[in-house]
Amino acid sequence: MSLDAFAGVREIATPADMATLGRELGALLRAGDVIVLTGPLGAGKTTLTRGIGDGLGVRGPIQSPTFVIARTHPALTGGAPLVHVDAYRLSSPAELEDLDVDLPGSVVVIEWGRGMVDAIADSWWEIELDRADLAPEAEWDADASRTVTITRRSAHR
Ligand SMILES: Nc1ncnc2c1ncn2[C@@H]1O[C@H](COP(=O)(O)OP(=O)(O)OP(=O)(O)O)[C@@H](O)[C@H]1O
Ligand SMILES: [Mg+2]
Repeated sequence: MSLDAFAGVREIATPADMATLGRELGALLRAGDVIVLTGPLGAGKTTLTRGIGDGLGVRGPIQSPTFVIARTHPALTGGAPLVHVDAYRLSSPAELEDLDVDLPGSVVVIEWGRGMVDAIADSWWEIELDRADLAPEAEWDADASRTVTITRRSAHR
């Protein structure tokens, strides 16, 4: 099975389900694959990444990289290492390029990477996470289900 089977929109009810989705994706990811995670604070980007790390079989813990922009999690079972990037504080695609991530040799997951990856990759998977409770007029509920949209993207150049 390839990741194409996961393209589309799904509702994810709980953090555990988000981690399960990540594990399923992680089991399919290979060195050279790039994933961009987009979504508001608390949407579940890091929770999904943790599952991806489990599925890939890399060393944890995968955390919100508060002070570290990119962290490499080595493979434990012979697969690809995971490079987890938090692009939140990067101000330009050039700064992403400057991190010198080993793209061909790793699976790269970039939180807040939208609009930056085209500098480093020809194609990637975009995963958009939405919190219905943050919609205008909606009731605030941090435990609300998340809408996850998985799309294949490529650079226009
Ligand atoms: N359906 C759900 N899927 C994922 N997380 C959920 C869900 N429902 C509630 N949560 C909670 O939302 C929070 C998601 O946190 P997480 O750190 O994964 O988000 P994030 O998108 O990485 O945030 P940040 O923008 O701060 O990096 C967790 O506390 C988790 O328990
Ligand atoms: Mg996060």
